[in-house]
Amino acid sequence: MRNKVTIVGAGNVGATAAHWLAAEELADIVLVDIVEGIPQGKALDLLQSMPVEKSDVSITGSNGYEPTAGSDIVVITAGFPRKPGMSRDDLVRANAEIVGKATEEVVKYSPDCILIIVTNPLDAMCEVARRVSGFPRERILGMAGVLDSARFSTFVAMELGVSVENVHTFVLGGHGDQMVPLPRYSTVAGIPIPELLDKAVIDRLVERTAKGGGEIVSLLKAGSAYYAPGRSIMEMAEAILKDKHKILPCAAYLQGEYDLKDLFIGVPCRLGAKGLEKIYEINLTAEEKAALHKSAEAVESLVKALP
Ligand code: APR
Repeated sequence: MRNKVTIVGAGNVGATAAHWLAAEELADIVLVDIVEGIPQGKALDLLQSMPVEKSDVSITGSNGYEPTAGSDIVVITAGFPRKPGMSRDDLVRANAEIVGKATEEVVKYSPDCILIIVTNPLDAMCEVARRVSGFPRERILGMAGVLDSARFSTFVAMELGVSVENVHTFVLGGHGDQMVPLPRYSTVAGIPIPELLDKAVIDRLVERTAKGGGEIVSLLKAGSAYYAPGRSIMEMAEAILKDKHKILPCAAYLQGEYDLKDLFIGVPCRLGAKGLEKIYEINLTAEEKAALHKSAEAVESLVKALP
């Protein structure tokens, strides 16, 4: 029997994640959205690409949660984008309600699933899912670090003119301007990037990474990034579905690691069939640790704004 993945929110990110998952024949997919016709229509369109793709997964769409029953993974992308005039706190409250309701519904039908939260502000939405689901931390993860690291890797590869396959970067912290890219732990063919690039250049790439989402928003004008977020969701889902024991940067609920407690933030996580298997605590310089704690403060202030 194939695995089953539900994606709540059949918008740009949700549908793109479904596309990647289906193309790789990783799981049967259920798309859920509040708008009538959208999840059904996108699911049918995607399904009709499968004979060409040569993938036998089933893809269905629904406005209700019954068809999601027994999902191995539930990805939550449902939410509002930030609208002009909307404060960050307004967005937190609006999306907390959507993510809270979606979590309540999906855990009813899939009590053993692993939740991958994507809706922004990411780290605070993970906390909503934790409170509502009551799941252990092993089964609640946030997708941000894979995306942020992929952005950093893109810029490093472009700068050096090397294959993206050679580049391995690490970004920790909350998903926002306060994220913490770690050049010391970022390598090109095993060579740490400070050996290959001047500090000024690294600082420029780090800055562009931290503002990576905003750069795309300002180009698209309406909407935010979805190709790289969609592929990053698939990376996490694949590690879980194939029990790969793969280390990826994900938002996880810290319980004292990095001297942080009771909050979600991006850290290196090992993912396998049970979800989060292990959090790696790597040595940080005083400066890196301070940046991580500053990022944690930003997450805490969003969590405080939760209803
Ligand atoms: N239940 C189910 N779906 C909902 C609900 C709800 N209560 N409320 C909104 N949605 C759906 C919308 O109908 C829409 O189809 O969520 C979808 C969101 O899609 P988009 O607006 O296209 O947003 P997208 O670009 O996919 O981003 C989704 O991911 O990366 C984050 O910041 C991003 O928080 C945003 C999320």
